[in-house]
Amino acid sequence: MELVICVSDGVMYDEAEALARRTGAPLCDREGDGVTVLFDRTGVSLSGYGMKYRGDFTQMLSRIGAGLRQELLIRTAKPRSGGLKAVDAAAGMGEDAFLLAACGYEVSLYEKNAVIAALLRDALRRAESDERLCAITSHMHLTEGDSTELMPTSDLGADLIYLDPMFPPRRKSGLINKKLQLIQKLEQPCGDERALLDAAIAAHPKKIVIKRPLKGAYLADMKPSYSISGKSIRYDCIAFPDAT
Ligand SMILES: C[S@@+](CC[C@H](N)C(=O)[O-])C[C@H]1O[C@@H](n2cnc3c(N)ncnc32)[C@H](O)[C@@H]1O
Repeated sequence: MELVICVSDGVMYDEAEALARRTGAPLCDREGDGVTVLFDRTGVSLSGYGMKYRGDFTQMLSRIGAGLRQELLIRTAKPRSGGLKAVDAAAGMGEDAFLLAACGYEVSLYEKNAVIAALLRDALRRAESDERLCAITSHMHLTEGDSTELMPTSDLGADLIYLDPMFPPRRKSGLINKKLQLIQKLEQPCGDERALLDAAIAAHPKKIVIKRPLKGAYLADMKPSYSISGKSIRYDCIAFPDAT
């Protein structure tokens, strides 16, 4: 897939250049024919194939009111007190992490794809100027890198580790929303489920919550303690009752 980094107004040049170096993609002053990461006065966006996307936590505000506790992720995580720590080990655009932070978790986010991390960093930065968002995103802390490598070397003390690696691709791409269509061009389905789950277990959380397709196999074939299903997705929870 052809990837181009484009700086439109000369703004954020250093960040764009660093991303070009990390990805090996050319730094240009106009959009390419494939996927373009565009740095301009409005922030960082992704465009290509007639689609445009950028992270925007404003669209999450409708989900954090009275209905927050009814979110499947929160019902599966079952937070029982305040002051809890969570790790989102496959952060993507941080929407699920936003729900966890809104529910009172201090959330560490790991994202290994440099382009997605740049988009998420920009969405978090823009959220700083919106009081309603900032009250939540100030509890979200992004680290760019592979959580399989980072989790075992960090002193996480996490109550919850959340895993949402990319699902296997669906045959009818028309069913996938625009965000996923563009982002799936950047990211492959999880190549090593076992390594990801092992790294999460090695970090000794109290719970690991995993998002799966409704009828998908368990991650790395590990049977969860319980599952909660919605219309198209399922959350599996592996609980470690003895974890301190
Ligand atoms: C399906 S998306 C996550 C979506 C996210 N839950 C949200 O609400 O926006 C999966 C993401 O996990 C990232 N990822 C997969 N394996 C990872 C790993 N080992 N370390 C860090 N990020 C990883 C991928 O790059 C991708 O952006």
